[in-house]
Amino acid sequence: MSDLGEIAGPLLIFGGPCSNLQATTAVRAEAAMLGIPPERCVCTGDVTAYCANPRETVALVREWGCHVVMGNCEENLANDAGDCGCGFAEGTACDVLAREWYAHASSLIGADDRAWMGRLPRRISFRCGTQRVVVIHGAVDTINRYVFASSPEADKLEQATRANADIIIGGHSGIPFTQRLADGRIWHNAGIIGIPANDGATDTWYSLMHSEGGAIRFEHRRLAYDFQSAAAAMREAHLADGYALALETGIWPSLDILPAKERGETGLPLAIA
Ligand SMILES: [Fe+2]
Repeated sequence: MSDLGEIAGPLLIFGGPCSNLQATTAVRAEAAMLGIPPERCVCTGDVTAYCANPRETVALVREWGCHVVMGNCEENLANDAGDCGCGFAEGTACDVLAREWYAHASSLIGADDRAWMGRLPRRISFRCGTQRVVVIHGAVDTINRYVFASSPEADKLEQATRANADIIIGGHSGIPFTQRLADGRIWHNAGIIGIPANDGATDTWYSLMHSEGGAIRFEHRRLAYDFQSAAAAMREAHLADGYALALETGIWPSLDILPAKERGETGLPLAIA
């Protein structure tokens, strides 16, 4: 757990750089354009995953100096594990593709970066006015559990209670949402910048957290970046076409992990503010 104390001013939140150097370069440029310093930028983990440039992406994030929560990809690379730790069922499309990109990332990430990954906090907390905010990767109790907008609200409430949080900021699942829970607490997911949100668009998503007169407001924002170069780099690295096509079409190569609701929204514009 890393506690940042009181944070004032807008925060820039992003998930899943996923070895997408072009998207990571773009989100850093957004932060600079918005005048948000690294100490108010938070990444929800999975710096390395599907795309072509794990080493360069980690170097960029480390040099930038933003806060990073450990993702399952960081956990498993730090431990020199044999797979990405996403928990995909054996033989599924996700599983087959993950074996390939994880091997690619693992072959390129050196000892110093693995040690950095191993030192990342599993939770980051801070206060914003009267609100206690806790940043995690997947679920509070499990780093690689997928929490979507349609996931049961009772589970989100239980997770928020477990973390003693008024606001949970999660990542991992790849589709952004903000949900006010029954008791007024909030579950927010900024989405990921490295892969589109299965919404049929090439832009990816990040968010801003505003504090206005004691009230917290999340603003989901599109990230336009050079997806053509990111896809070309993947093909040059001989990564299978599934995720390169996803960068170009905005549609995931497999819907295995999605609940029925999110699966049914494939290719549709996201219904978020
Ligand atoms: Fe993850």
